[in-house]
Amino acid sequence: MNPYPIASVRSAFPALSGAQPTPVYLDNPAGTLVPRMVVSAVADAMETASSNLGAYFDASRRADEIWSEAHRAAADLLGAASEREIIIGPNMTTLTMHLSRSIGRALSPGDEIIVTRMDHEGDISPWLLLAEDLGLVVKWLPFNTETWRIEPEDLIPLLTPRTRLLAINHASNMTGSINDIRTLSALAKDAGAWVYVDGVQFVPHLLPDVQALGCDFYACSSYKFFGPHLGIVWGREELLSALEPYKCRCTSDELPVRFETGTPQTELLAGLTATIDYLATLGDDVDQLEARRARLAKGYGRFADHEMGLSRKLIAGLEQLPGITVHGIRNPNRFSWRVPTISFTHAQVSTHQIARTLAQQRINVWSGHNYALEPARHLGLDEDEGVVRIGIAHYNTEEEIDRTLNAIKTAVC
Ligand SMILES: Cc1ncc(COP(=O)(O)O)c(C=O)c1O
Repeated sequence: MNPYPIASVRSAFPALSGAQPTPVYLDNPAGTLVPRMVVSAVADAMETASSNLGAYFDASRRADEIWSEAHRAAADLLGAASEREIIIGPNMTTLTMHLSRSIGRALSPGDEIIVTRMDHEGDISPWLLLAEDLGLVVKWLPFNTETWRIEPEDLIPLLTPRTRLLAINHASNMTGSINDIRTLSALAKDAGAWVYVDGVQFVPHLLPDVQALGCDFYACSSYKFFGPHLGIVWGREELLSALEPYKCRCTSDELPVRFETGTPQTELLAGLTATIDYLATLGDDVDQLEARRARLAKGYGRFADHEMGLSRKLIAGLEQLPGITVHGIRNPNRFSWRVPTISFTHAQVSTHQIARTLAQQRINVWSGHNYALEPARHLGLDEDEGVVRIGIAHYNTEEEIDRTLNAIKTAVC
């Protein structure tokens, strides 16, 4: 197999090709870097399609094309049956708040919904607010602190004939664990519930297949996978058609427009298509004639081992430092159940102090709960302290991990 082309990968990113050494970008779960071709696509759209959709003149026609291309690209990325199933908006949280209103129109007081102790607030708060508004019963699904995942045996007792929704993440933004959505989804669907999956932290690392997962909705954000600030939600076409949207009276009732309120962010949509094309062309020997979904599978396949190798090095290095606890899967044999997001605390030194020391050495990491409020509580962590979170992406290097480990050692020893 060809060695991983790290130099050519890094050269695609303006932020990594400036004066050396560049900062170490390990803040990826909060937002990733953007390749040059995405920046160009956004700029180009602002020059050529700076117009609203649906008119007779060229700039508007180009905006229409950009809108359609972005929905097709996102359908390829998520494995959707059609681009009619793709809703694009400002970010995952806003889209989820928005869709929760429509979902709520199909629910009645006393209906039950399940949220998890593992999720980011973006997939908890919208449902708690909906429950408050409608008088729904909220049930909490814990994660197992030995396997670090949500286990079917914890879901089964929560399901009843009144369960209408399970909101669950594919991968955690704190521990990095990946849930077995296929199994959990099948259980919830057998009970008659809809399944809303938060894939925000999965898509930067692995290619989802929404149809194979068996869920009803799948949400993600393109700024977490090397693109512009947009959110995307896939929903099953028959369900999206049946739900009653919150929309303006004169907005089309066609899918997906009935769920896309207001004027679309055309330039960012152009950037989204370029981002998905970037992922499809990762590596340099991909046959351009192959369908984009097949090229995406190859592109993602190229960096999985690289990311896993860096995770192994980072976790092994952290475990050698006295006082450090890594909160997540540490056994390399189980790494297929985690993404390369690694969180830790130190027995004495504050997480914020560690992150501040690293920032002084131009190493970007996050500290705190990072909206993983429930996971922090479930692990008995101080909410404000949370964890130090290091998030690896496909452009990080072994040398950067060494540099980070040395800096952490200085901060805690
Ligand atoms: C797992 C997860 N879900 C949801 C979100 C919210 O995404 P957005 O900023 O697009 O609303 C984040 C953001 O960090 C996240 O990590």
